[in-house]
Amino acid sequence: MSHLLEVEGLTTVFTGDYGETTSVDHVSFHVDEGEVVCIVGESGCGKSVTNLSVMGLLSRGGKVTEGKVLFEDRDLLAMTEKELDKIRGDQMTMIFQDPLTSLNPVFTVGNQIMESLQIHRGLSKDEARKQAEELLSRVGMPDAKSTMKKYPHTLSGGMRQRVMIAMALSCKPKLLIADEPTTALDVTIQAQIMQLLKELQKENKMAMILITHDIGLVAHMADRVIVMYAGQIIEEAPVRELFRHPKHPYTKALMDTVPTIRDTAERQLKAIPGIVPESYDHIPGCRFADRCSYRRPECDKPQENYEFGDGHMARCIVRKEGGIQDES
Ligand SMILES: Nc1ncnc2c1ncn2[C@@H]1O[C@H](COP(=O)(O)OP(=O)(O)OP(=O)(O)O)[C@@H](O)[C@H]1O
Ligand SMILES: [Mg+2]
Repeated sequence: MSHLLEVEGLTTVFTGDYGETTSVDHVSFHVDEGEVVCIVGESGCGKSVTNLSVMGLLSRGGKVTEGKVLFEDRDLLAMTEKELDKIRGDQMTMIFQDPLTSLNPVFTVGNQIMESLQIHRGLSKDEARKQAEELLSRVGMPDAKSTMKKYPHTLSGGMRQRVMIAMALSCKPKLLIADEPTTALDVTIQAQIMQLLKELQKENKMAMILITHDIGLVAHMADRVIVMYAGQIIEEAPVRELFRHPKHPYTKALMDTVPTIRDTAERQLKAIPGIVPESYDHIPGCRFADRCSYRRPECDKPQENYEFGDGHMARCIVRKEGGIQDES
């Protein structure tokens, strides 16, 4: 069976004043129907650019130079903007960290959801109004009827994000890409919104790519996890397997940064020493090598993602050759 979304060798380059930089380097992954895939990794590792490339929403200066993005076997990169528009916001859609950038300030919330329903689902105005109200109730807006008449800036951050989710779901997408949808919100609201997303994802059997910094959230939400580092995928595994047996030293370090319930005040977040290299496209070998305590000479040669069985892959030659053992 083919996948809902299949990304093969995706490479995205930005051209700026100082020449070209490769932000996403030969990234390959897939998402199946109804599956939740989380993408994790430190700031600047290419999570957003990967997904903006998939959606065809790169900002100016950004260009996909290699690779394929197949959605239900159709190559999105080969489509015209018009063809792409039919799929975007309809069968696949994206929500962002800050809903104000996606909501139009001069239209009411009701108008915006209704418009989406009229365009993508071909509903009449009355049908669209009814459905918009239902959607707003479903995402937990206390008084859907009066919310319909409000403008985005008059709502709180959490309420705006609920409106965005209602809009994203208005077209019943097969795939929702959520790029850190709750980071701008306070912790209790974050939990409510994520719970809502999870319920809606199950209810609609929708596939979801969730980009997050929050490893705790990954454990709660993901079926499968992709770990990115410096523009590359360095590990991929089903969620339980990844938490139990992380293979790449970077993933292991990432897991160790999660505070557990038994944590004492002294053992708070353990930061990974060093930083993601600012520019990484000139590094031929393992891009984590500089920060890695297992570094060997072979790490500086070009790397690949090695198979560890049961859908587990990691880009670590030392691990593959038995130089690092699983902890039990
Ligand atoms: N518009 C742009 N022009 C030039 N470079 C860009 C642009 N957008 C992103 N980049 C570069 O691409 C790389 C990947 O950025 P990206 O935004 O995908 O990171 P990220 O993993 O989403 O980080 P964060 O967790 O902070 O959101 C970074 O090095 C960034 O500087
Ligand atoms: Mg990002």
